[in-house]
Amino acid sequence: MINSSLFFILALLICVFILIAAYSAKLKSDEQYRELVQFSNSIILRMDDKGRITFLNRFAQDFFGFAESEIIGKSTIGTIVPKTETTGKDLEDMIRDIIDSSEKYKININENMRKNGERVWIIWTNKAFQVSNRKREILCIGNDMTKIKEAEEKLKEAMEIKNRFVSIASHELRSPLAAIRGSIDLIADGLTGPVTEKQKYWLDVTRSYIARLNRVTDDILTVQKFEAGKMSFEMRKNDLNATVSEITAIMKNSVSEKGLGLLTDLDGKIPEFIFDKDRIVQVLVNLINNAVKFTDKGCIRVSTALDKDRVKVSVTDTGCGMPAKELPKVFEKFEQLSNAQERKSGGTGLGLSIAKEIVVHHGGDIRVESELGRGTSFYFTLPLTPPGTP
Ligand SMILES: Nc1ncnc2c1ncn2[C@@H]1O[C@H](COP(=O)(O)OP(=O)(O)OP(=O)(O)O)[C@@H](O)[C@H]1O
Ligand SMILES: [Mg+2]
Repeated sequence: MINSSLFFILALLICVFILIAAYSAKLKSDEQYRELVQFSNSIILRMDDKGRITFLNRFAQDFFGFAESEIIGKSTIGTIVPKTETTGKDLEDMIRDIIDSSEKYKININENMRKNGERVWIIWTNKAFQVSNRKREILCIGNDMTKIKEAEEKLKEAMEIKNRFVSIASHELRSPLAAIRGSIDLIADGLTGPVTEKQKYWLDVTRSYIARLNRVTDDILTVQKFEAGKMSFEMRKNDLNATVSEITAIMKNSVSEKGLGLLTDLDGKIPEFIFDKDRIVQVLVNLINNAVKFTDKGCIRVSTALDKDRVKVSVTDTGCGMPAKELPKVFEKFEQLSNAQERKSGGTGLGLSIAKEIVVHHGGDIRVESELGRGTSFYFTLPLTPPGTP
């Protein structure tokens, strides 16, 4: 009897001991959890379905400059959220929207306000949760991105200045170049008096340099228009094979001057379809010119083929090829590979970046395959129905 009572008391003591240990462990973990929330380097706040703040961690109190007693129970609007952003966006509407449909605002960036009125940019993640049967709150975790936003603004300004400068400089170059070209033509055509053979030779050299300068200014303007989203396209029904034939006929002479062949292999099944003829000519001319520049013997082949709902075009050469490790940068702006430097081939390294922009605008893609010393193939596709076609 005594034994069983002792055993019972001992068991009770052990249970009490376990309970005390578990409780103090819980207290400790609660304490750690509270510290984590209060002092984490993020803003943690909760608001009720009226947009009133029910919790703001210590980090956020310091960040916004409010004491806990000043902010709890107050509306976010007018305390840490201004009524409107400096961009004009209505933040009162936004807070209402976050409360009604927080799913839409899993992540959002908006302007906030410190107690002293200073504006700051915060990236927020928002999540609604049920506090009780009737009560729903929104948990918002934010991080300060004011510095990143300022840097972004400065970068945007610098890009705008650069774009304006490039545009003005290129336009300003165009008119004097046209005037120089006109004067040279006048002299070369003998309208200002007789021209000797030697003078004619140098006038022709000058003309070819002017043409080169014209190409460079045109390319720079094209790139700038793409960057500014101001490039216009004339999307019309056209015949791709006829376009390829026209362009290869025009280029045949300059290709054969270099002792190279220019062959075409055109798929007669390609129907007429919508594309900007001048822009696709620009792509073909650059690909063929590149092939000529980097090929010393052999031939250049331009092929077209219908592949279901798209057309595949390829320009293949038997030239010097490109080193495999340099291939990834071939479509980047102002990028010329080591073969261009070795050959002093001229150009600005803009041709392929423009070609890519044009093809992508048509809803197609462009890629390259190349083997050093054996040749290069560029492939691009054009959908029979480009994006935006009704
Ligand atoms: N068919 C090719 N064979 C070998 N290398 C090529 C070929 N096509 C392009 N490249 C390499 O890719 C680079 C970029 O070509 P891209 O057409 O953009 O510029 P570019 O021809 O040098 O100058 P631009 O076209 O602006 O006059 C070339 O400088 C060259 O190094
Ligand atoms: Mg080129």
